[in-house]
Amino acid sequence: MLKGVFLKSPEEVQKIARACSTAGVILAEIRERVRPGIRTAQIDAWARELCRMNRVSPAFLGYRGYPSSICVSINEEVVHGIPGQRILEEGDVVSLDFGVRYEEYYGDTALTFVLGNPNDVRITGLLEATEAALWKGIEKAKPGRRIGDISAAIQKTIEARGFSVVREFVGHGLGKHLHEEPQIPGYGQEGTGLRIQPGMVFAIEPMANLGTCNVEILKDGWTAVTKDRSVSAHFEHTLVVTDGGNQVLTLISASATGS
Ligand code: MF3
Ligand code: CO
Ligand code: CO
Repeated sequence: MLKGVFLKSPEEVQKIARACSTAGVILAEIRERVRPGIRTAQIDAWARELCRMNRVSPAFLGYRGYPSSICVSINEEVVHGIPGQRILEEGDVVSLDFGVRYEEYYGDTALTFVLGNPNDVRITGLLEATEAALWKGIEKAKPGRRIGDISAAIQKTIEARGFSVVREFVGHGLGKHLHEEPQIPGYGQEGTGLRIQPGMVFAIEPMANLGTCNVEILKDGWTAVTKDRSVSAHFEHTLVVTDGGNQVLTLISASATGS
């Protein structure tokens, strides 16, 4: 995590916004293509190809030695799953985390979905709670609020529905670096932490588990899994704090989708 919270100029925000909207559009396109029967390496190939077509660089490739352009985390995998020869099956819970760099600036976004017909209400509940927690957190990302307000809102939303919040990974500032200060945990106390100001750009990214909050890292050195091997979910958006509130930059705008 790079030291110091950087406030971004409007020119910088424009470039970050471009990185973010491109990341959002590519992730949506990839999500549409993912089907039972494909290998996860195929998802990585799509990510690389879509980066090339959109003239952006994959943000994760080579980051601290990470070997792929996207993170694909399945079922009990929490984050940082490495695409490979695994074949996706009906009912798999798939988390995709994707980031790009455009003119030195980053954008970062993630989502989770069930392949095929979701028929386990605990899993659909987990996904709904984790996405709701992201939006509850986003609501608090306003001038005058504190980082702890975001964290507390996330934690409350997830725990109220009987799920647990992952501690080991956190949201983060971003800009010229994929990870900058401040850290934004998915758990914490209202009224604590750094005061939120216009010009801050950060990624909020709650991770929640069906069972224990504890995680461990597999022998590949990257893949984080739940200790009890219960299913995990992850949603992430990047936003900029404005004078009146915030703007979520990784949403797919009407203009970007052409609809
Ligand atoms: N995208 C992750 C995040 O949300 C970080 C991925 S790091 C990588 O912060 F090395 F796995 F790419
Ligand atoms: Co992130
Ligand atoms: Co991410």
